[in-house]
Amino acid sequence: MDLRRQIEEKAGSPVRRAVRVFGGYGPSATFRLFLEDGRTIFAKGAGKGSNTENWRVLPIEEAVYRNISAIAPIAPRYYGSVSVEGWHLLLLEDVSGAKKVPPWTEELALQAVRDIAAFHVRAVSEAGNVDKMTGKGVIDNWLSIKNNSDERNYFLCLFQNRSEGEAWLDAVIDSLIPMEAELMRPDQPWGFIHTDIRSDNLRFRDGNLVLFDWALALNGPLLFDAGFFFPSIEGEGGPTAEFLLPEYKKVMTAHGIQFPAFAEYSVAVATAGFFATRAGKPPIPMLPRLRSIQRLQLGPALRWSCNILGLPQPPELRKNE
Ligand SMILES: Nc1ncnc2c1ncn2[C@@H]1O[C@H](COP(=O)(O)OP(=O)(O)OP(=O)(O)O)[C@@H](O)[C@H]1O
Ligand SMILES: [Mg+2]
Repeated sequence: MDLRRQIEEKAGSPVRRAVRVFGGYGPSATFRLFLEDGRTIFAKGAGKGSNTENWRVLPIEEAVYRNISAIAPIAPRYYGSVSVEGWHLLLLEDVSGAKKVPPWTEELALQAVRDIAAFHVRAVSEAGNVDKMTGKGVIDNWLSIKNNSDERNYFLCLFQNRSEGEAWLDAVIDSLIPMEAELMRPDQPWGFIHTDIRSDNLRFRDGNLVLFDWALALNGPLLFDAGFFFPSIEGEGGPTAEFLLPEYKKVMTAHGIQFPAFAEYSVAVATAGFFATRAGKPPIPMLPRLRSIQRLQLGPALRWSCNILGLPQPPELRKNE
């Protein structure tokens, strides 16, 4: 059966037209489908023009929508998938009408945090259904800045004044390296996590969080989901990690889930390291907006890390052009 017929069967109505949607930072094939009966649905997947990473993660996202019941209260509804030679699409509830951020408010950010915490509590028992996070790419970024002169250079280029940046880096790096290495310790709460929570992957509907783009879901340290998200909120003009984390911990504590101090320090420092080794590198042609979002998250992640560890704050980063 051709793609259109398959979609119409799953959607329960003929398709009038399809419009390509651009929203995230990558080249995913995403479309809004206008149905004859007046409804719209959203199609996300891989097709002509998709890269190998799109094709790799699509079955993961599909399995999450199919099998992880704990996401249902905060995810778009899943109507099923369609595939033909060269195309594979997930059919989702269209949440285009829901509220977008930025602009953030304290209230919206707190609501997001509470809804993420509640989802984490619900999903812990389903964590065994996804791959375990390995820590690859997140636990040794400061180490590579220390040991590799190219990495060090890309990072230092991000500062308005390179020599001030260098003096700061040399003063703090030996404190950061052991901290980032603790990110994956097993003696902290682990569970089912999204791993890519950011404003382009969420909306608010009736005041509640709607979270999509489940392609990178893993079994990992719960605090990673919150700690990786917070710097993006501050970077987009919203509240800080210091303001939001207590709200997350309050919900988790009410469900008997508590975090050791190292979990908090390590997620702040590892998040800063993640962006520190990426934000200053040359643009990737397929992902033209990636470096600017990485720079936007780097500043708050560095600020948060230094604040909670009592380290000197870094000098000014160059502004995003
Ligand atoms: N169910 C939905 N309803 C409405 N819009 C959606 C829905 N799912 C995704 N979008 C929009 O499409 C964009 C891309 O979707 P998604 O985040 O799932 O994929 P992605 O892999 O990040 O894509 P990209 O390659 O664009 O980064 C989102 O940023 C959002 O703007
Ligand atoms: Mg996305």
